[in-house]
Amino acid sequence: MAPPPRGLVITVPFLVLSLLGAAIFLFFLFFSLSSCSCPAPPSATRSSAVPSSGEVPNDSSGSAGGSLEKFRASFEDVDWVKEQIRANGLHMADNVLRKGINPRTRAQQLEDLRNFKGISHYEEADSSNHTALPCPGELLVEEHHSNYGEPWAGGRDVFEFLADATHLKPDSRVLEIGCGTLRVGLHFIRYLKPSHFHCLEKDELSLMAAFMYELPSQGLLHKRPLIVRGEDMDFTKFGSKEAYDLIYASAVFLHMPDKLVWAGLERLASKLKPYSGRILVSHNVKFCSRLGGEECTRRLATLGLEYMGKHTHDSLLFNHYEIWFEFRHSKA
Ligand SMILES: C[S@@+](CC[C@H](N)C(=O)[O-])C[C@H]1O[C@@H](n2cnc3c(N)ncnc32)[C@H](O)[C@@H]1O
Repeated sequence: MAPPPRGLVITVPFLVLSLLGAAIFLFFLFFSLSSCSCPAPPSATRSSAVPSSGEVPNDSSGSAGGSLEKFRASFEDVDWVKEQIRANGLHMADNVLRKGINPRTRAQQLEDLRNFKGISHYEEADSSNHTALPCPGELLVEEHHSNYGEPWAGGRDVFEFLADATHLKPDSRVLEIGCGTLRVGLHFIRYLKPSHFHCLEKDELSLMAAFMYELPSQGLLHKRPLIVRGEDMDFTKFGSKEAYDLIYASAVFLHMPDKLVWAGLERLASKLKPYSGRILVSHNVKFCSRLGGEECTRRLATLGLEYMGKHTHDSLLFNHYEIWFEFRHSKA
């Protein structure tokens, strides 16, 4: 009879079970690590792969820091959408009449709306309209998307630039001068906490488009933005204690008399959070440069404002860049 085996005996079933157990353990370990909510290392954040030659020098100007959140599409995002287009074999074909598709201009859509009473299924008179917020036809066909700043999609570019440059957070407080039809403002309103977006705008039709079409159609009424009609750079309706993280003017100061811009800056300087808050102005700062370099700096200094530098920002969708000028309030 053979002697019993000495030492540890590992049977085949035991070995298989052990390997299976180890594999399950490693699987759960890997899964729990990959779904951790800890911040990604810098090389893995969206910012590291920004497809933009107009890169904003994030902290070179001393902008408020801290957040890793980035707003622009990454290289991965762009590659993904290109792959979707390639995989589906898509090309930009002529937009002509075809089965189930009836391309029309805005003017034709508006005519249909008027002729067919807003394509209503209800038979009654307009007085018993079932619509809670009846929107004018011109707005429904989005005529206002061609009013200025087109392409309309450029509003997202402006938002992404400003949000990245100022490290925007949901509880940031933002004021736009001349928000128009909310081409840019919508993106802020969507991201910020309720009532954290403010705007002063003078144009009645633009404000109608903002209140009657953009906010309701984007499901943003609950965000309660404070949008005030006015043209005198009078900010009294925004409250005396408001301290903004960002005040911006997108394609606005170039349309205003220099005197009015300076009056506005004088009232706004104290509403900007000292040091961390930023004023950003697009296109040019002729209101300042027309005074001459030294006088411009001196006048800014009397308001406690400091010029921080110039940035360019490339659009994601069209071959265009925008220029931005950054200021901060350097007095506590
Ligand atoms: C070119 S549009 C830009 C609108 C918006 N900022 C955008 O980027 O889509 C200029 C806007 O500034 C507004 N605006 C011009 N002067 C103004 C003033 N003194 N006070 C308030 N808004 C003004 C105009 O009514 C218009 O809506």
